[in-house]
Amino acid sequence: MISISKITVNYLENPMGITDTQLQIGWVMESDKMGVFQKFYELEIAVDDAFDHCIYKSGVVESDESAHVFVNDISLKSAEKYFLRVKVTDNLGESSPFSNSAFFITGILDNDLWKAKFITVENKEDASNSKGTSLRKEFILNKPVKSAYAFTTALGLYEFYINGKKVGKDVLTPGWTSYNKRLLYQTYDVTEYVQNGDNAMAAMLGAGWYKGVMGFVGNRNNYGDRSAFFGQLVIHYEDGTTDWLVTDDTWKGTDAPVVFSEIYDGEVYDARLEKEGYLLPGYPAKDLKTAEVINKDLSKLFTQPGCRVGEITKIPAKRIFTTPEGDKVVDFGQNMTGWIHIKVKGSAGDRVELKCFEVLDAKGNVYLDNLRLAKQTLVYICKDEQEAEYHPHFTFQGFQYAKIVSYPGELTLEDIYACAVHSDMDRTGYFECSNPDLNQLQHNILWGLKGNFLDIPTDCPQRNERLGWTGDAQIFCRTASYLMNTYTFFSKWLKDVAADQTEEGGVPHVVPDILTGSAEDDWLVSQGTHSAAAWADVAVINPWTMYITYGDKVILEEQYESMKAWIEFMRIHSKDGIWNYRLQFGDWVALDAEEGSYFGATPNDLTCTAYYAYSTGLFAKIARVLGRDEDALVYGKLQEEIVEGFRKYFFDKDGNMTSQTQTAHIIALYFNLVPEEYRQKTTDALLKLLAKENGHLVTGFVGTPYFCHALSQNGHTKEAYELLLKDDFPSWLYQVKMGATTVWEHWDGMKPDGTMWSPDMNSFNHYAYGAIGEWLYRAVAGIDIDEKEPGYKHAIIHPHLGGGLTYVKGEYKSVYGTIKTYWQLDRDKVKLEVTIPVNTTASLYLDDVAEITDNGGVSFESVGKNKKAEVKSGTYRIIYSLLN
Ligand code: BGC
Repeated sequence: MISISKITVNYLENPMGITDTQLQIGWVMESDKMGVFQKFYELEIAVDDAFDHCIYKSGVVESDESAHVFVNDISLKSAEKYFLRVKVTDNLGESSPFSNSAFFITGILDNDLWKAKFITVENKEDASNSKGTSLRKEFILNKPVKSAYAFTTALGLYEFYINGKKVGKDVLTPGWTSYNKRLLYQTYDVTEYVQNGDNAMAAMLGAGWYKGVMGFVGNRNNYGDRSAFFGQLVIHYEDGTTDWLVTDDTWKGTDAPVVFSEIYDGEVYDARLEKEGYLLPGYPAKDLKTAEVINKDLSKLFTQPGCRVGEITKIPAKRIFTTPEGDKVVDFGQNMTGWIHIKVKGSAGDRVELKCFEVLDAKGNVYLDNLRLAKQTLVYICKDEQEAEYHPHFTFQGFQYAKIVSYPGELTLEDIYACAVHSDMDRTGYFECSNPDLNQLQHNILWGLKGNFLDIPTDCPQRNERLGWTGDAQIFCRTASYLMNTYTFFSKWLKDVAADQTEEGGVPHVVPDILTGSAEDDWLVSQGTHSAAAWADVAVINPWTMYITYGDKVILEEQYESMKAWIEFMRIHSKDGIWNYRLQFGDWVALDAEEGSYFGATPNDLTCTAYYAYSTGLFAKIARVLGRDEDALVYGKLQEEIVEGFRKYFFDKDGNMTSQTQTAHIIALYFNLVPEEYRQKTTDALLKLLAKENGHLVTGFVGTPYFCHALSQNGHTKEAYELLLKDDFPSWLYQVKMGATTVWEHWDGMKPDGTMWSPDMNSFNHYAYGAIGEWLYRAVAGIDIDEKEPGYKHAIIHPHLGGGLTYVKGEYKSVYGTIKTYWQLDRDKVKLEVTIPVNTTASLYLDDVAEITDNGGVSFESVGKNKKAEVKSGTYRIIYSLLN
């Protein structure tokens, strides 16, 4: 039987706020048969769940496309709900019934429909504070309501309430974008929130990224100096009429109980300032201030249909203990990003104060130094004797522990828990193996993602930084895209990358770019705030990664000019094919750096030119994918010239690299910059450099992600495993052995004796080195992409056995369905189980095969000592023995 298990619109399930004129529909099929393809599909879109009123019927379409079905020729209305369903017939002649219906809700499609105004009750003097405010308005509904939708956003952060209930589950809305160029609004179905008769709506506002202190230079008011709310409510009545309720100067407001909130410093909530009934109809408005309108360019408003930030995972408190210095501390057992929920029963004016932090020092005491200036403090002031529950509203913390600075009464484990807060993405990747340390590493990598994908990809969540460092996002993108569906997350952020590019196409070090012009006396800012190799290349590498992972061409079209501008920037600033530019981070925090420096030993000319070649090569491929043949030719040729220059400059006449660092060799190999005749020599040189360090890496941000690939792709899987499995400093598993639950910024963030790396830059939740995750999925579990048929329409299944592992289980939920690999090794006997989703195919590679004892119905061909086969959908069980 063939059936449909999931339908997506623009890669999202049931999105709210669709404004695209072109929809990209996808569905996942399940079948109990092998070798199943879609032969025909039929797609319907209707305004009703019964599909009596269809606005689109594809009819029976002969096609095997099920992940990127474009619907262009429908006209959608703003603020409406649409339903869709699909049925398919496969190559075996089986047909599915129509699927369950999915839906999407449109946003505001026509800018003329915006009637709302940005409103505030903050004064000019409030530019220097970060207090919360609150605005409210009542309305009456006197006809039966069919549906109601809200479109809301803010300058600052907001929570929106209707009749006392917070609308939606999202937090920290509207997230962080380059607000002056792009401000996102959120769409909500509020049909269940409104009622016949009297209604009240209200919004609480906080300073957030908009006007609070942000960036290590400590500026406030980066985008503006008054927070403001903006919202429109559409009410569709049963009788076919519609009303719009909008924010304007008829709203009233006052200060909120959130008396202070900032991203780095935390929040102070004084419950004594809560006004009873404020969120409900009938509140006397006499003491409230009339809202003031702030004029804003509404053409900068864009929708955020999904992947918003939410409270995703609840983490119970593990223990409460007293440190040797006498501090009372709660341990959540997991380093994370989010916030604490706490219950309290005190008297009016009693204070709860919690200070969040990541690690204990060598003596087991509270360690705050690595937070730098970030206070990470939560204060709740009780209003009466009733039990109350509090969690922060407009801030987040990076922490595993909280110091209980004050709490009325005795705090117990039942009174406190934490919530991991991050962008809501579908988990797509699972990895498990026989080595518990590797499983913990995979866990830590996942939590690095959870800790740093908070509307934008951040470097770290705890110190006074938490910025969209482009390099970190580039390095980790492929790993993140194994773990979770990152499409909406990155496609949103990449628009800010494009928006913040310099006129010449330079790409900022951080996006949203709050560094440029922020403080000319800061060492970094004064040297340059854009266009560092490996950082700026995010503009090309991430859209490409989205394309190969999801098969999506829309993102390539959307980012095309941005990518091209970046390549042109490098071209203009290169000399004889070698490019370098102002401030470069190079192989950042590599261990071959000079004493006291963060800059690794690999020369900037080399790193810059290597990335110039790599990005230009990708761009040429992208141009080809999009049918822009002229660009494909021009940039293909440019790439060849850069590679030629690279070879001339960075290899001597005997084929040795001029820079004898691990990273130089790794990127030369991985980016295919090595002349073929020197490949062996370069690989041997890398092995020698590794041996020189006693088998340890000394690489930083640039070399580390590709180290194992550079080895395994050049015949040295064994050495790649040895590197992966090292567990003394410096190595991935050293951190695991030290009890890490996330990935650290430094190989020795915490030294074996418990002392710390210098506090000026020592994050314990930095995903960059977690980029090894890609090797776990791609090489160890062997689930890889064929870029010729991207999105895993055709997968490469090539498990790399080794490392003493006796089993590995990998799973990836592709846009077509779930790919699974499972290998088990008992001496020389291998059992391999592979699942390929309906409507896809795969090439299966087995290495070093002595004999296949059970081919599981697959016919293999020999390629030297290896075997290769082509398979269609289904599950295959193969048993073979290995050569010794
Ligand atoms: C960040 C890094 C970032 C780097 C650039 C640091 O402060 O935390 O992850 O990429 O600066 O130099």
